[in-house]
Amino acid sequence: MFGLCPFHSEKTPSFSVSPDKQIYHCFGCGKGGGVISFIMEIENLSFPEAVAFLARRANMPLPEQEDTRESKKRSHLLALNRDAARFFYEQLHAPAGERAREYMARRGISKTTATNFGLGCAPDEWSALEKAMREKGYTDYELFDAGLIKKGRNGGWYDTFRDRLVFPVIDVRGNVIGFSGRILGENGPKYLNSPETPVFNKGRNLFALNLAKKSKSGYILLTEGNIDVVSLHQAGFDSAVASLGTSLTAEQARLISRYTDRVVIAYDNDAAGQKAAQRAIAILEKLDLKVRVLQMSGAKDPDEFIRLKGPEAFERLIEGSENQTEYLLAQIAKKYDLKTDAQKLDYLREAEELLARRPSAAEREIYCRRIAAEVGISPQVLIGEVDSRRKRILRRAEKTEGRGSPERGSQPAERQLRYDDPASAVAEEGVIRLLYLEPELASSPRLPAPEEFSSPELGHIYAALLRRLREGKAVTADVLGGELESAEVSQLVSILQRPEALASSSRALDDYINRIRERRRAKEQGLDPMQIYQQRKKELENT
Ligand code: UTP
Ligand code: MN
Repeated sequence: MFGLCPFHSEKTPSFSVSPDKQIYHCFGCGKGGGVISFIMEIENLSFPEAVAFLARRANMPLPEQEDTRESKKRSHLLALNRDAARFFYEQLHAPAGERAREYMARRGISKTTATNFGLGCAPDEWSALEKAMREKGYTDYELFDAGLIKKGRNGGWYDTFRDRLVFPVIDVRGNVIGFSGRILGENGPKYLNSPETPVFNKGRNLFALNLAKKSKSGYILLTEGNIDVVSLHQAGFDSAVASLGTSLTAEQARLISRYTDRVVIAYDNDAAGQKAAQRAIAILEKLDLKVRVLQMSGAKDPDEFIRLKGPEAFERLIEGSENQTEYLLAQIAKKYDLKTDAQKLDYLREAEELLARRPSAAEREIYCRRIAAEVGISPQVLIGEVDSRRKRILRRAEKTEGRGSPERGSQPAERQLRYDDPASAVAEEGVIRLLYLEPELASSPRLPAPEEFSSPELGHIYAALLRRLREGKAVTADVLGGELESAEVSQLVSILQRPEALASSSRALDDYINRIRERRRAKEQGLDPMQIYQQRKKELENT
């Protein structure tokens, strides 16, 4: 079955699902796997979390499971983070938190708000946190893994967050996954975020989504700054979130789309903020989210706006916010002086390009009419130009997008992956495919060792497959998903897409193995692979 791919944006379906093989595969972006890897990708979960998710949905009890080492490490890190958050929180109310309390008062952050967000204070000392956490029994290595301490030049440890107002970053399940700290004094960058850790990935989380997901407002308010978020919540706008010092990522957009289909962008009022807004619109639109953009005047960001003009004025801003098309058109209009004909034409050209890409015909017409009136031309002319431009764009897209086919070539679909020796890789893929389809072949004495594969990626997939088969366990793309990276599962599934004749499978396996060994020998002897290939072809023709 074919449909539009949920993982990349496309107009002609290249996403396939095979009910009998129980797998999906996208010929466009190369993603693929089974039901568990699908849930992992789309819900942004780990393998065990995805299994639990599906079990809950199917009303199946989940067998008590030995914690894997990795999941133990994760939950230990989360416990450590929670204790660290508690330490920072206590410091905010202790003598060491005096400066932070003063700072909050200056920025108008109330005690209740601080408690709602679990705000804390990192004292102006080198190892206040380290000492407190060691007393609780944590080791320096654990604190280092959590990104909470760093190693100094003299070999000693020091706290990452010092003299800062600390914002814990809490995920939608309520785990403290990391921290963001705003400077109180003069030393260091304005904000410092936890580094990547096994539980923290900036691009996959949003500050305050744990609170915003409960909002009844029906939309998510997307801002740039932590302080903006805190001020907005305090003023009653309880759906405000912020990306953590990165520009909005596709993963963050997907996360938002789990809770709402409407986003209001309230970025800073400077050029950087407006640029970021345009980029965010493009990302959010891909997920069919309805986007509006706030235009603030007289304040540089939402925090300042609320402070200067009050919550009611901000509410009016939201009500009067422009939809994405209006916003983007206004951004274009700003660049031109519409009193001169030459600039009018430039404006029209850019506006046409934008409108031609809007999917709704009604929307295209409405804005064509509005712009035509603005520059004083007849609407029919503009509508005609936008239509023909749109046709051109669609034709071009069709040409480049075109659905891939299983016979498309011997390179893998993942763009970043390139086989060193495609001829050997085809045979390696063949071995993997045969073993997957005919598990009995795993007992063949001639099977190569994974190290004999020319592609380390294929060798890794093969090793995982072989290990399970030799243990007498079943293999499916899903089960292997527990041992392989998601890119590897995708690769496995794309390998399974290619046809394989099973009638004489053990002969086919032998042929593949011969090919792998031959290529290997040739390489070791420094022979030109093309010569070998032609020689072998001749031999085959003669037999
Ligand atoms: P802002 O400079 O707008 O900060 O950066 P802010 O939160 O509005 O704070 P105030 O009002 O100026 O005090 C926006 C966001 O960019 C990230 C932080 O997540 C911040 O909230 N950022 C900023 C960093 O990660 N590092 C920096 O040095 C500065
Ligand atoms: Mn700001």
